[in-house]
Amino acid sequence: SHRANDIGFENAVFMWSREADHTPHPGQQFVLRIDGELLFKRGRINILLGETGSGKTSLLMALLSEMYYIPVGSTSWYNLPREGGVAYAAQESWVQNETIKENIVFGSPFDEERYRKVLYQCALERDISLFEAGDATEVGEKGVTLSGGQKARVTLARAIYSKASIILLDDVLAALDVHTAKWIVDKCLKGDLVKGRTVILVTHNVALVRPIAGFVATVKEGIITSQGNIEDALSYATVLKENLL
Ligand code: TTP
Ligand code: MG
Repeated sequence: SHRANDIGFENAVFMWSREADHTPHPGQQFVLRIDGELLFKRGRINILLGETGSGKTSLLMALLSEMYYIPVGSTSWYNLPREGGVAYAAQESWVQNETIKENIVFGSPFDEERYRKVLYQCALERDISLFEAGDATEVGEKGVTLSGGQKARVTLARAIYSKASIILLDDVLAALDVHTAKWIVDKCLKGDLVKGRTVILVTHNVALVRPIAGFVATVKEGIITSQGNIEDALSYATVLKENLL
């Protein structure tokens, strides 16, 4: 059993497709399986680690109710409280065909001070200053084409600018060079706009997130292989140690 504001899972199986009798679809390889409890820490930065294809994105999608849920036993649950808002920065970052500013504010009330802070913390100031029209620059199909790293930072900025109390960030650091990724960790993830909010961050960059990790879970072949602090994760997964060197 769980409280209404818990974020996580207990004894749950998730699939991307299934037969009418709830058995896996023939040929379907991947099953996400949470044995026991996986409870993310509220108000902290939660890190999800695992090799490519291990099921990190699937785990976020399961939380978002985008996968088929199969309860296991009588104590099964999963929960993502939506009341305080949930912001989701997908692994495939995206922009709409509108200005950079509109892509970040994204329908929320405009707050100049918050917006300026977001640009700074998400390392967007310089990129924007290089456009003639600044943040009024149209992006997308009819406008300027942003680089992968620029798109990733606009997608991150949208999540940070929102007042959602839960922020899911799928590999937002991956498209960035080391310097920029470190900036995001130091200014944004350690910053005042994230403080007190719950972040679940998927990343491969163990060394960079080590100082900010409040909780770390590792995933392998759809199974949670460790949860706790970063040392627990490191002692479990040699591949993570390699990433640290
Ligand atoms: P992912 O959950 O996408 O694995 P990952 O996020 O850990 O990998 P990466 O670091 O490369 O981002 O994939 C796990 C399995 O789920 C994989 O077999 C593909 C499958 N899958 C789908 O079938 N549909 C989907 O929409 C997604 C996201 C994954
Ligand atoms: Mg992924």
